[in-house]
Amino acid sequence: MWLYNLIVLSAIVALGAADGDDEFANYTVTNRRFPDDFRFGVATAAHQIEGAWNLDGKGPQIWDTFFHEHPEKVDDGSNGDVATDSYHLYKEDIRCMNEVGVVFYRFSLAWSRILPDGTLNNINQAGIDYYKNIFKELKAKGIRSFVTIYHWDIPTALQEKGGWLNPEVVDWYVAYAKFCFETFGEYVDNWITINEPKQICHAGYGLGVYAPGVVSNGIGEYVCARHVLLAHAKAWRLWDEKYRPIFHTETTIVLDSDWYEPATYSESDAIAAETKRQFIFGMYANPIIHGNWPKVMIDNIAEFSKKQGFNESRLPAFSNEEIELIKGTYDNLAINHYTTYMVKSIPEPTYEVSFDADSGVATYQKDTWETAAIDWFKVVPWGMGKLLRWLKHTYGDQVFLISENGVSDRTGTLRDQHRIDYIKNYLSHLLDAIYDGGVNVKAYTLWSIIDNFEWTQGFNGKLGIYYVNQSDPSLPRIPKDSSKYYANVIKTKCLVDECV
Ligand SMILES: *[C@@H]1O[C@H](CO)[C@@H](O)[C@H](O)[C@H]1NC(C)=O
Ligand SMILES: *[C@@H]1O[C@H](CO)[C@@H](O)[C@H](O)[C@H]1NC(C)=O
Ligand SMILES: *[C@@H]1O[C@H](CO)[C@@H](O)[C@H](O)[C@H]1NC(C)=O
Repeated sequence: MWLYNLIVLSAIVALGAADGDDEFANYTVTNRRFPDDFRFGVATAAHQIEGAWNLDGKGPQIWDTFFHEHPEKVDDGSNGDVATDSYHLYKEDIRCMNEVGVVFYRFSLAWSRILPDGTLNNINQAGIDYYKNIFKELKAKGIRSFVTIYHWDIPTALQEKGGWLNPEVVDWYVAYAKFCFETFGEYVDNWITINEPKQICHAGYGLGVYAPGVVSNGIGEYVCARHVLLAHAKAWRLWDEKYRPIFHTETTIVLDSDWYEPATYSESDAIAAETKRQFIFGMYANPIIHGNWPKVMIDNIAEFSKKQGFNESRLPAFSNEEIELIKGTYDNLAINHYTTYMVKSIPEPTYEVSFDADSGVATYQKDTWETAAIDWFKVVPWGMGKLLRWLKHTYGDQVFLISENGVSDRTGTLRDQHRIDYIKNYLSHLLDAIYDGGVNVKAYTLWSIIDNFEWTQGFNGKLGIYYVNQSDPSLPRIPKDSSKYYANVIKTKCLVDECV
């Protein structure tokens, strides 16, 4: 693969940049309506909203521990101990959702609120009651539940045994998932096993910038990825065999992907961009759909590992049995999408031991792109359309869900025209992908209903369509302009004043 890159690279002529910016220079938002069966929702995650980090029997999880031990890791010095206090104020959150008219709510269960030490040896009834109360409130308001079993928060007790690097994590997770299926199965409309494995493994066990802060770039993160995929697959199979016939619900995994656009029309940049997509999205999608890591990852990492003096590839192999186990463990493809990168081929790999070096390409973003609350977060609406068309092209005619999309700012301003523009433009490109690209997208999930605790950005990354006033002890939820816009989109199925 690398050799091939070099050969095509030598053939590059100066073609100049040509990309989505040029292609969509005169873009106007579509006036077509969403299909009748298209569903709109909003999303949150337990650690970002619940607070009550040690109340009523909840055990600590890795983000509690990470931020207590390293307050300097949070941009504004805050933490998730109280967050938006949705442990007590969940009815307020659901009132907001009802006001907006969403059809479903995607939220996560906190493992250590249900099983404080992560195992069935210790079951916390107060945690179970908390989630049952949420389900009842949602049902009363006619909102369907879309439940993430694991959104990054492994119990600290299990992290002390190695967390996602310990092969036993597969059984720990499956036991927890089984408990969730049995305890909450009757209330849940859609299950998600695991949210964004790339962030769990790359940020948490590779770069170490996210909890639990393990730095093992290009090594531990692949071990983590293998375990996450096996845990997902075993839980999915268990649900498929035992619980699908009872509850008739769907289960999937949520993967995150930026869009990766070739920097030029050159063949080498096209290959570079495709390689990056395989490392980012294919790393998890390919096993789930076809059973194994993408070939370009197997080849690159084996070659680089050898050059680096490792006696075997840093990318651990799946056995034939494991390939059969993982293959096909999804009902639909749920994708979180926020931003876009440009990709260039590079003449010579750096041969560093790292995930980024393993892809052997360079990425960058353009200064001309609008920036949200953090520098990597660029607003590039056409990336949504290109990603969706690529997904269909690469993985065939699947059912796709957008399980997260939204934009941050630092102020939480109620006059958030920039958020209205973001939602309108990203959704317009999504609609074009449906109508012009024939991509079967069935749902859109806006992140988030309320401003909440945005991990290492703390409260400096606000993505809500409701403002939460952190200076007011009652943490009131106040509608922003974008909540009214989104409510209107849901009501009219139309992004502009008038649709055809
Ligand atoms: C955009 O509009 C300008 C001015 O009308 C025109 O010159 C240009 O060719 C258009 N670009 C595209 C990609 O259609
Ligand atoms: C490679 O080396 C590691 C220790 O560095 C060792 O544990 C492992 O067994 C070796 N693998 C093979 C295939 O020799
Ligand atoms: C937030 O709460 C503080 C304290 O009650 C109040 O002074 C301030 O006006 C509130 N801000 C907004 C935007 O409501």
